[in-house]
Amino acid sequence: MMIKTNEWKLGPGTAAEERRRAIREAAKLLRDGQTVAFPTETVYGLGADARNTAAVEQIFTAKGRPSDNPLIVHIADTAQLADLTQAPDETAAALMRRFWPGPLTIVLPVRPGTVSPRVTAGLDTVAVRMPAHETALELIAAAGCPVAAPSANRSGRPSPTTAAHVREDLHGLIGGILDAGPAGVGLESTVVELCGPGKVRILRPGGVTPEQLREVCATVLVDEDGMLPEKTAGSGEAGKGAVPGSKAPAAPRSPGMKYTHYAPQGVMQLVIGSRERVRAHIQAEADQARLRGRRTGVLAFEETAAAYRADVVVACGSLAQPETSAQRLYAALREFDAQGAEVIWAEVPPNDGIGLALLNRLVKAAGRRVVYV
Ligand code: TXA
Ligand code: MG
Repeated sequence: MMIKTNEWKLGPGTAAEERRRAIREAAKLLRDGQTVAFPTETVYGLGADARNTAAVEQIFTAKGRPSDNPLIVHIADTAQLADLTQAPDETAAALMRRFWPGPLTIVLPVRPGTVSPRVTAGLDTVAVRMPAHETALELIAAAGCPVAAPSANRSGRPSPTTAAHVREDLHGLIGGILDAGPAGVGLESTVVELCGPGKVRILRPGGVTPEQLREVCATVLVDEDGMLPEKTAGSGEAGKGAVPGSKAPAAPRSPGMKYTHYAPQGVMQLVIGSRERVRAHIQAEADQARLRGRRTGVLAFEETAAAYRADVVVACGSLAQPETSAQRLYAALREFDAQGAEVIWAEVPPNDGIGLALLNRLVKAAGRRVVYV
């Protein structure tokens, strides 16, 4: 069933009165139990009143999202936390002081009955974050409720970093889109769980890097799921990218991590090795695929893209500035879809700083297909 999707456009030149009206109207839709897509500093989110099960169900319907995957609850003020969770311990409080508002989501013990069970997917914890985006904060404050919001894409598609991406996936399926220009980081927030004093585990790498978390926590663990599969003997040849050594934990701690996320429609494969070997391997494979009549794609970087011949070559930011790659990644994946790429080879960035999150999304987009050359 199609519904009316309201749109509001906010920019630097928008008059204050018009801005207030847009926020008021969008907030009213949220209070009335509808869904509204809004910008955050990471990606666009699809929001609904986290207390209202019927409203939250519309998120799952619009996205086509599996219902055992819990949602992040967004707040505009730490005062909202007291309603949602048990009192945070010192480590959680320190993380909030250092990183909120910002791209860090903290999994905390939920206060029973305060959010819809559809938000927590029946877990006894709730994931909470305070986005560092003026429009998001104004909207949440005006709605006056905690706002559950996954990324505003159809499930399995790359997350939206612009309102146009949201429109592409969800027009006619959601109550509104608040368009305030491109998101900042370009990748989702870092999700952490607490493991004792001064100790956290990263369930999903994201906008806050492990290095930054170490400023506050003595021990920072990283969940293996979604990271680069270990290099194993013969993995370069065997099964064209099947990874013998790869294993996903039986029960991922962050339920969302087990799904194929962020994927382009074509089959993507990561190629890892020295720059020259990577280039030679990708070019040889792409040439062969083209001879077989396949539409080929290469995901590279500004420094390396010019060396490739393929139907679609996308430069995903600069190797010298990994933040630009983070900003570009999801739009780049959508570009392959727009141009109908059927087989895609991707170079990978170094995995420090924001590179860890980039690599995590690339591994997922590639369905864990990795070749070492
Ligand atoms: O940057 C972001 O975090 C974006 C923007 C819109 O804020 N939101 C986002 O939400 O990425 P979503 O729903 O796509 O991702 C939620 C992630 C999933 O990996 C989910 O499994 C995990 O957080 N999660 C949610 N609740 C959890 C919980 N109680 N325990 C463990 N993991 C949880
Ligand atoms: Mg998502």
